[in-house]
Amino acid sequence: MSKKIELSLIVSCLGLGLVLTLLLVETRRGPSDTAVSRPDIGGAFSLIDHDGVRVSDADYAGRPLLIYFGFTYCPDVCPLSLDIMGAALQHLKKTAPKKEARLQPLFISVDPARDTPAQMKDYVSYFHPRLIGLTGTPEQIDAVKRAFRIYAAKTPGTDENGNYNVDHSSFFYLMDGRNRYIAHFSHTMAAPDIAAGIAAKLP
Ligand code: NI
Repeated sequence: MSKKIELSLIVSCLGLGLVLTLLLVETRRGPSDTAVSRPDIGGAFSLIDHDGVRVSDADYAGRPLLIYFGFTYCPDVCPLSLDIMGAALQHLKKTAPKKEARLQPLFISVDPARDTPAQMKDYVSYFHPRLIGLTGTPEQIDAVKRAFRIYAAKTPGTDENGNYNVDHSSFFYLMDGRNRYIAHFSHTMAAPDIAAGIAAKLP
């Protein structure tokens, strides 16, 4: 084999390798495969909104969602987190107003026994004018908690007013217009950083 043929074989092998690699990368990026790399968080839900109306994920189809799970009797983490959520949305309204307008913030109860629609409606009004509170039957809440992999458990005992506490996960879940997970943010992040994260992740 001459040096010239040997060299051209090596070059074509390299070329073929490159083409195959690019094809593989393209295939992996293909729309049919995107679900593979997506964490299994989120899914269909059926709940009751803060006006007492039955709603499902289909009612928000086409709109990205920012979802926080908690309960209105929460003494600390929920009010702090929802304050940050409201501030992040205000920040997003200034920096990316179109994205902010499309985004629907939701607060889903992990304590349906006490969080009635009226209780939710009053509570969410303190944090953001567009925040919608969702509650439901214990079965509906269990199902949505499972879908979003939310940990929530009543702690034993009650305080002097007879109120129990509920330990729960504390994340803001950013979902796309088809209720599929995009990203999550911690309540320990600063509001402008959450807003920047949302702006970067939303198309
Ligand atoms: Ni809480």
